Amino acid sequence: MADFVRNAWYAACWSDELTGGPAARRILDEDVALYRTASGRAAAVEDCCPHRFAPLSFGSVEGENIVCGYHGMSFALDGACTAIPGQRNVPSRARVRAFPVVEKHRLVWVWTGAAERADPNLVPDVHWIGDPGWTSVTGTMRYDCNWILLVDNLIDLSHTAFVHKSTIGTDDVAATEVTAVREGNIVTVTRLMNDTEPSVFYRKVGGFEGKIDRWHRIWLEPPSTVVIDAGGVPAGTGDRSRGIDTRVISMLTPVGNSAVDQLWAFSRDFRLDDAGVDDTIARSIDVTFNEDRAILAGQQRNAEARPDQGMLNNAADAGVVHARRIIDEFLAAERAQETGR
Ligand code: FES
Ligand SMILES: [Fe+2]
Repeated sequence: MADFVRNAWYAACWSDELTGGPAARRILDEDVALYRTASGRAAAVEDCCPHRFAPLSFGSVEGENIVCGYHGMSFALDGACTAIPGQRNVPSRARVRAFPVVEKHRLVWVWTGAAERADPNLVPDVHWIGDPGWTSVTGTMRYDCNWILLVDNLIDLSHTAFVHKSTIGTDDVAATEVTAVREGNIVTVTRLMNDTEPSVFYRKVGGFEGKIDRWHRIWLEPPSTVVIDAGGVPAGTGDRSRGIDTRVISMLTPVGNSAVDQLWAFSRDFRLDDAGVDDTIARSIDVTFNEDRAILAGQQRNAEARPDQGMLNNAADAGVVHARRIIDEFLAAERAQETGR
């Protein structure tokens, strides 16, 4: 059985991807058709017409309705059928499941759980992406692994010293101890690296010449949004005006049990209009995340071959252990609700 937290908002696509006709996405093992109505509203329905099961993503948008591309049935935003060609009567049972949708922080978020619990205030706080004081390079990456392995990867950055030597990694990241604190359902992992060599990437975009004081502060907003606050200042100065501050934000949307989409944003508060920095970030991220993809696909294969073997936890996994406990609690709560129904 797949382990997903259904009562949550998941980033389905970037707002600027949703233009023209409907788009197909697979989210938590369900096919979803996303579309934007004539008035500009983002919407999502089950990607299956109730008539002969044609995918609605093959259809078109007319006004505020999505129209099936096979025999032309129309559906309103709430999923109710509004017209059947050649038929005067539209039965009330002619409807498609409509998902609650919110557009926020330049993303289209879909609620996959019980519609009555879809509270827009529960959209994860990733406000840097749309903040005019920051600029963001964004993208989407597909990983062939369970979503929780990607949460692990983002929470425990000690791997950067080994996997990402050519971009963001330095030896100090693995050598420095972390502190992991749970407050409510948020786990925060902090790693302070003082008087350390800047990474290749920091040298390029931060223009650092000597050593720096560097920090990582990472938190998980469950079930699957990870924010990495990373930055540095010239060593011993504490001078933020000569330093750099970034947020690497990952909104993880499980595709199924062994695939996950990472909608990522790299937000920065410096050199806001510098397209050269945008390019450097885009290229570094592509290299970096592809290095992760290879490892994670291998982990997934090994995990599937060992369904009964637990993993070993090291000191650097302090945050991962908290994160997995929180995720387990969310999964258990949903299971309890389902069986209690
Ligand atoms: S399958 Fe959609 S209208 Fe026939
Ligand atoms: Fe990584």
